[in-house]
Amino acid sequence: MRRALCLISLVMFAPGCDYSEEKKTTPVTAQLQTGPSDVDWLMQNLFQPSCSRCHNAGNRAGGFQFENANDLLNPTQAGAILPGNAQGSLIYSVIANGSMPPRGAKPDAAAVKVLSCWIDQGTSPTGASCTTTAVVPGPVPSASPTPSPAPTPPEPVPTFAELFTSVLEPNCVGCHNSGYPAAGINLESKASILANDDLVRCGRADNSLLYKVVAKNAMPLGGPALKADEKKSLRLWIDGDCP
Ligand code: HEC
Ligand code: HEC
Repeated sequence: MRRALCLISLVMFAPGCDYSEEKKTTPVTAQLQTGPSDVDWLMQNLFQPSCSRCHNAGNRAGGFQFENANDLLNPTQAGAILPGNAQGSLIYSVIANGSMPPRGAKPDAAAVKVLSCWIDQGTSPTGASCTTTAVVPGPVPSASPTPSPAPTPPEPVPTFAELFTSVLEPNCVGCHNSGYPAAGINLESKASILANDDLVRCGRADNSLLYKVVAKNAMPLGGPALKADEKKSLRLWIDGDCP
């Protein structure tokens, strides 16, 4: 909508329209604010979308946690970042060499450049001035840095065995097994579930048929609907990347 208004005002030669989103080739300066907000910017634009779901307080994959701004500045995770040396920093090199995230969408290239610049400039929590030739998408952070709220601890992700015993076996397997796979769906094992591409998108419960049918109480067929905590276990298992 805002973009549409901008285009209209451009046609009318109206001044004062920020159409930086439309720039594709001109170098632009990443608007890192002075203050802790530049670390917040990296969290919001890089780590939270691409890393936090596997690297959080409940699931420190590889021993690392990238969930909030403090994690980036935490000296006990110092091995991941060498201030002044992005290329030598594990946190940057695993992104640059493509090994992280191990699957799913790659992080935004502009945000990765800002990360490398921020590290090269010494990882200051109070600001850096980084130029990138890529367009930094989205709104620039607000000038007044808001302190990040205390993170709510993530809920523990159930294992498949736990999910199976508490949810699938009592409610679903009677109609979805190898001998009687209703709708061609066999929920007897993790392998049989993951073998069906349409059923589960690990990491994205809301896009997974298996979760959608229970969320809208279409399954178990004939009811009764799953209890809230059973739905939640299924959601956590899928969002937690189907462990
Ligand atoms: C789908 C889950 C997942 C996502 C998403 C993910 N990681 Fe990881 N990461 C892992 C696992 C599992 C390990 C430990 C095993 C390994 O090194 O492959 C790991 C290990 C690491 C390590 C340690 C590597 C080493 O050599 O010791 C770093 C650093 C890291 N991840 C950074 C990141 C960053 C930065 C992102 C986001 C850009 C990210 N990860 C996204 C699962 C993930
Ligand atoms: C009483 C038997 C029965 C039970 C119990 C049952 N299902 Fe089903 N399920 C069916 C039948 C029959 C179909 C195919 C017809 C339909 O979609 O209504 C089906 C279809 C499905 C589909 C495909 C829906 C689609 O739109 O393609 C999914 C996913 C599914 N079930 C998951 C589950 C889950 C998860 C449970 C347990 C929470 C469950 N079912 C319990 C009988 C059952």
